[in-house]
Amino acid sequence: MDFPTKYGPWALVIGASEGMGAAFADECAQRGLKVAIVARRADALAEVAVGLRARHGIETREIVGDAADPDFSEKLEAAMAGLEIGLMIFNAGIQPGGPFLRIRLEDHLKCIQIQCVAPTKVCHWLGRQMASRGRGGMVLVSSGAAQQGMAHWTGYAAAKAYETILAEGLWDELRDSGVTVTSYIVSSTYTPNFQRVQEKHDLPFAKGVDPADFPEGTPLPSLPEVVAAALFPQLEDGPRLYPTPGDKAGAEAGARLPRAELVAAAGAASKLYFPSGLNELDA
Ligand SMILES: NC(=O)c1ccc[n+]([C@@H]2O[C@H](COP(=O)([O-])OP(=O)(O)OC[C@H]3O[C@@H](n4cnc5c(N)ncnc54)[C@H](OP(=O)(O)O)[C@@H]3O)[C@@H](O)[C@H]2O)c1
Repeated sequence: MDFPTKYGPWALVIGASEGMGAAFADECAQRGLKVAIVARRADALAEVAVGLRARHGIETREIVGDAADPDFSEKLEAAMAGLEIGLMIFNAGIQPGGPFLRIRLEDHLKCIQIQCVAPTKVCHWLGRQMASRGRGGMVLVSSGAAQQGMAHWTGYAAAKAYETILAEGLWDELRDSGVTVTSYIVSSTYTPNFQRVQEKHDLPFAKGVDPADFPEGTPLPSLPEVVAAALFPQLEDGPRLYPTPGDKAGAEAGARLPRAELVAAAGAASKLYFPSGLNELDA
């Protein structure tokens, strides 16, 4: 089956008003799919949609929605009624950062709602439709943080681990019905969201990622367009995909470490983000 036959006619990209989500939407449009994009900011969505139509001449639909809303999935289903969705990419996420006990409980719960409850409901709704049609795909965007416990992103890492394991199980359950499900595990990526956190905490990439500004060998965040493009050639090679062979090799090397060593190493890196112990959402 060619790409639009297996994954068309509509792609639904959740969390697509900027950065990586917008880049996923562009990749779908480039492959001949109509694209529905979802996020909280109507103006940013409209801007992305204008670009998609201008570059690719495809049909778009913009849906304002908040994945933290307990009825998010039901509202999305109503907004997409009558349209056949062949590919869903769940990209929206929040990253409450800082010591677990200093983050408001409501923010931990919101993180679970967005990255556990909402993907579960959307996969249940769309998985049934896709399985009955015998084709389609669902991608849950996860994080390197999902691969072990991670201090100061403890709740985030746990929520992303759920998202990854959900995708892996569905990959196995649905593959015989022609539906491709995968976890896409991305590492540091220079999205506007990433850049805002860097700026807020005056971190090294606050002003940009020009290699000329950093000592040779400094690991730089990836660019969102590069990460989005890297998904599609390997889409059918799940259950767990990475943007680069280096990301995959790093994850596999980490998994071979004694668990305490791995968790401590991940925490040593994440604690650098919050040296003052500030809660990112409260600060
Ligand atoms: N950037 C990184 O370094 C990195 C590293 C590892 C994993 N990831 C994962 O990659 C994904 C995207 O990364 P990102 O956030 O940096 O960049 P992004 O894709 O550039 O932006 C996130 C998108 O999600 C939307 N969104 C956020 N909260 C939402 C909500 N509650 N409901 C609906 N839409 C929502 C945002 O738009 P609105 O504000 O308009 O809603 C925005 O369009 C996330 O799942 C993240 O956990 C990122």
